[in-house]
Amino acid sequence: MKAILLSGGSGTRLHPMTLAISKQLLPVFDKPMIYYPLTTLILSGIKEIMIITTPHDLPQFQKLLGDGSQFGVEFTYRTQAKPDGIAQAFLIAADWLNNAPCALALGDNLIFADGLSTKLQTAHDRESGATVFAYQVKDPQRYGVISFDETGKALSIEEKPEHPSSNWAVTGLYFYDNKVCEKAEKLRPSPRGELEITDLNKMYLEEDKLHVSLLGRGCAWLDAGIPDSLMQAGTFVQAIQSRQGMLVGSPTEAAFRMGFISLEQLRARGETMAKTELGKMLLRLADTHERFF
Ligand code: G1P
Repeated sequence: MKAILLSGGSGTRLHPMTLAISKQLLPVFDKPMIYYPLTTLILSGIKEIMIITTPHDLPQFQKLLGDGSQFGVEFTYRTQAKPDGIAQAFLIAADWLNNAPCALALGDNLIFADGLSTKLQTAHDRESGATVFAYQVKDPQRYGVISFDETGKALSIEEKPEHPSSNWAVTGLYFYDNKVCEKAEKLRPSPRGELEITDLNKMYLEEDKLHVSLLGRGCAWLDAGIPDSLMQAGTFVQAIQSRQGMLVGSPTEAAFRMGFISLEQLRARGETMAKTELGKMLLRLADTHERFF
């Protein structure tokens, strides 16, 4: 399985912070925002990752992330010229995907949950269909919204409905089988002029091939798309890290735990940041070198 990490868009809801810098490069406490969804993809066991960003922001992403070897993965970069919708990512990546199954993570989504890697592995290992993750929110009209019947089977999925049929939002993490590019080809722009990820998910739903993994109350899903949620995400990360002494959203830590990088690489990475608490936490992990979760 390959993965796309989508970091395009103009971040208009975060202006003026995003006038000169990409939203996904803004700090969420002590790390750039994109580190968080990248960590989720690494925890899914995926090593081939395409980063899609705007032509203008591309050099900065390359400077931050390089070729991926620091995390034991391989990055490929492509650009999305205009924000024409999330599902356009599959048209941009089609030749690179070459009919491989693919996960998609949005660059502004942070998921933190006990047992997350088990849920990710299940989605990763599913051979047919699509998997989405749903989370209960107070403001579902900001998101894709999914409704279920009494057995928990998905009934409908709607993008930013005025009158949501449930409070279950679809998070920005998706796993698709090898039919995803074929389906994306059939999409047409929505009234807001975008190729909607929700329309792609609807195709799977209509074929009865949409799996929904519920993220319960023990999970945190934060999207950092507006100033309030950006601040909340930073505060959340700070609280967990300082209380538990454990890292949230560290691709280096995830890569080590997944066996993508060696103990020596972990230590070397920690040493490059030894002045920071983040670097110290990596060095501490290297000293105790526990690979368990
Ligand atoms: C996008 C999707 C939406 C999903 C959300 C998750 O919304 O269109 O279905 O719930 O990401 O962050 P957007 O970020 O484009 O508002």
